[in-house]
Amino acid sequence: MKNNLSKFGLGILAVTTIAACQQQKSNINIEHYGDTLTVLKITNPEKYLILPVQESCNEGKVMLYTGNPADMAMDVRLAIDSTDYYVPFKISEGTDEVIVKVRNVPADAFCWKDLNVSDTFEVKNTDYYRPLYHHTPLYGWMNDANGLVYKDGEYHLYFQYNPYGSKWGNMHWGHSVSKDLVHWEHLAPAIARDTLGHIFSGSTVVDKFNSAGYGKDAIIAFYTSASDEHGQIQCMAYSLDNGRTYTKYEKNPILTPFDGLKDFRDPKVFWYEPSQKWYMIVSADKNMRFYSSENLKDWTYLSQFGEGYGVQPNQFECPDFIQLPVDGDKNNMKWVMIVNINPGCMFGGSATEYFIGEFDGKEFKCDNDKQVSKWLDFGKDHYATVCFSNTGDRIIAVPWMSNWQYANVTPIRQHRGANALPRELSLYTKDGEIYMAANAVKETEALRKETKSFDNISLNGEKVVNDIVSNNEGAFEIEMDITPNNAQTAGFDIMNSKGEKVKIYLDMQSKRIIMDRTESGLTEFGEKAEPHFKENHDRRKTESVNYINDFALGTWAPLSLCEGKTYHLDIFVDKCSVEIFVDGGRIAMTNLVFPTEVYNSLRLYSEGGEAEFTNVNIHKLGL
Ligand code: FRU
Repeated sequence: MKNNLSKFGLGILAVTTIAACQQQKSNINIEHYGDTLTVLKITNPEKYLILPVQESCNEGKVMLYTGNPADMAMDVRLAIDSTDYYVPFKISEGTDEVIVKVRNVPADAFCWKDLNVSDTFEVKNTDYYRPLYHHTPLYGWMNDANGLVYKDGEYHLYFQYNPYGSKWGNMHWGHSVSKDLVHWEHLAPAIARDTLGHIFSGSTVVDKFNSAGYGKDAIIAFYTSASDEHGQIQCMAYSLDNGRTYTKYEKNPILTPFDGLKDFRDPKVFWYEPSQKWYMIVSADKNMRFYSSENLKDWTYLSQFGEGYGVQPNQFECPDFIQLPVDGDKNNMKWVMIVNINPGCMFGGSATEYFIGEFDGKEFKCDNDKQVSKWLDFGKDHYATVCFSNTGDRIIAVPWMSNWQYANVTPIRQHRGANALPRELSLYTKDGEIYMAANAVKETEALRKETKSFDNISLNGEKVVNDIVSNNEGAFEIEMDITPNNAQTAGFDIMNSKGEKVKIYLDMQSKRIIMDRTESGLTEFGEKAEPHFKENHDRRKTESVNYINDFALGTWAPLSLCEGKTYHLDIFVDKCSVEIFVDGGRIAMTNLVFPTEVYNSLRLYSEGGEAEFTNVNIHKLGL
C-alpha cells in the first residue's frame, strides 16, 4: 500500500524540529505532553489527516477537537515502529485551523514522522486476496452485513465497518448500493460511532405508513449503540435521502433491556400485517426477544424464544425473521427465525442456524424439538446472515464471509472482510421435515464472461483438466452434475501448479459432501486470538484459539438433504473463497482459502467404482 500512497508519504512536506518534544511538518504542529497526550494543530488543513497504522500496536485515541461534548475519539493503531498502511481521518471542510488530540501514543512513535494531510486518499486495490466479484469495503475492516433494504431500484448494503484500520473497532455503518446485487457502488459511511457507543448491527425499514412521522417512505434504521458506559441499547435514525445520510433520533435510546442484560443487540424490525404493527426482535444473550410498536419509537415487550434451542450453549446474535412458502406453496407459509450463534459452528467459531415454526403475533413456536439444529450453511465462513427488507416475495440474505475465530488476522491488509454471494432463501421438504435452501441469487449469472463446456465423463480413476479458464484471475464458477453410481468417493480437486488444492468430494460411505481446505494454500496466520470487542464482550477475551487447527480443516454436510442419485454442484471461486451450492442450495457451504497462486486446474476422480460427471461447465467470472 505504501507505494501507491507515496503521495502521502515522507518527503511531501518539509519537517522542521523546533523543540525536543515538538516537531513541525509544514502546516502540522505537533506538541507532546508526555506519552499520554499529543496535540496536533493544523493550519489551513486539507480534507484528511492521513494516519499511519501498524496493526500490531495498541490503539491510541484520535479526536478532532471542537470543544463540543459530542466530539468522539476514534481508536487507531498508530504506528510505533513502521507503517503497515494508511487510513484517512476527516478533519476539515474548509476550516482555517483544526486541533486533533491523540491519546496513548508515545512521543517517540514513528507515526509522528509519517503523518500527513491531503485532500485525497488513494483506494486503488493493493490486496492480492481481494475478491473480484464479491462485495468488499474499499479499505478498512468489515464484519456483518446489516440494515439491508431495497428501495427505489437500489439494494442498500450497510455493514459493520471500521474506517480507521483493518481490524475490528470504531463500528460505523459502512454503505454500498447496487441495482443488481452484483455490482456494488461504495458510498460514504451512513452512521458513525458516537458518544453513545459503537454502531452495532441492526436493520432498516421503509416507513410506508409514516409511522415514525418523518415522512412516508423514509428509511428508518435501528441499531445497537454499544459502550462500556451505557451498555447495549437500541437506537434509531432516519434517512430522507434514500439511505445516504441518517439523522439520529434525538431521544435515543428507544429500547434498553428490562433486566440489565449485557448482551442485548442487533434489532431486526419488520411489519406484521395481521396485527398492523411493527415488530422488533433483539438478540438477548441466549434468546431472541420480541417487541411491538405502532410508531417505531415506543416498544412493548411480547415474548422471547430460544433458551435451550439448537446447539448449546451459545450467544445468539443478528436475528432475522421471515415468512416463506413450503415447497413454493403459498397456502402453506412458515415463519423462519434466523439465529447467528457464536461460537457453536460444527467446525468451530461462528455459524448460522435457523428455526422453522409458527408465529401468532406474540410468540414464536418452533416445529422442532429443542435439540434439533438446522444450518443455513455448512462451511466455516458464513456468519451474521440477515435478509433485505422490502423485497416482496423474494427473500435475499447476505452472509459475512468470515469467522470470529480468525477474522481479525486473515492475510489481508488494505481491507479485511468480504460478503458471501447474496442468496435467495426458500423452504423445501425432505423426509417429512422442512429445511431452508440458500442458493446464489440468479443475478450472479451476469458475472459469466466465458464458458467452457465439457463432454460427459464416466470415470473410475482420474482425469485432469488444465487451464480451466483463460487469463485466470482466480474468479470462476464450476457447474456439474455428479452421479456417484457405485463409486465410494467421487469428486475433484481445484488446484494450482504449486499443488495447493481445495478438495471437494462426495463420500458415499458417510453420505457427506466434503470441502477440505487443509492443503488449499496459506492455512496458518495470526498469533493469538484477538478479542473483537473492547467493550461488553469479556467472553471473547478469554477465548484462546489455535489458528493452525482452526483454519486447516474440512467441512461437511449430509447428502440426506438432497434427493440423491445425481447431485448438481454449483461452485463459486473468487480469489480467496469457495462457495458450494448443491441442488439449488439444499446444501450451501462457504469457506475462505488463501492459495498463493490462482487455482487453474481440475482433477476429477472416482474411487472404488465408477462415477459420471455430466453437464460440466466452467465459467470465467468478472464484473
Ligand atoms: C456479530 C456481531 C453482532 C454485533 C456486531 C459488532 O458478528 O457480534 O452481534 O452487533 O458483530 O460488530
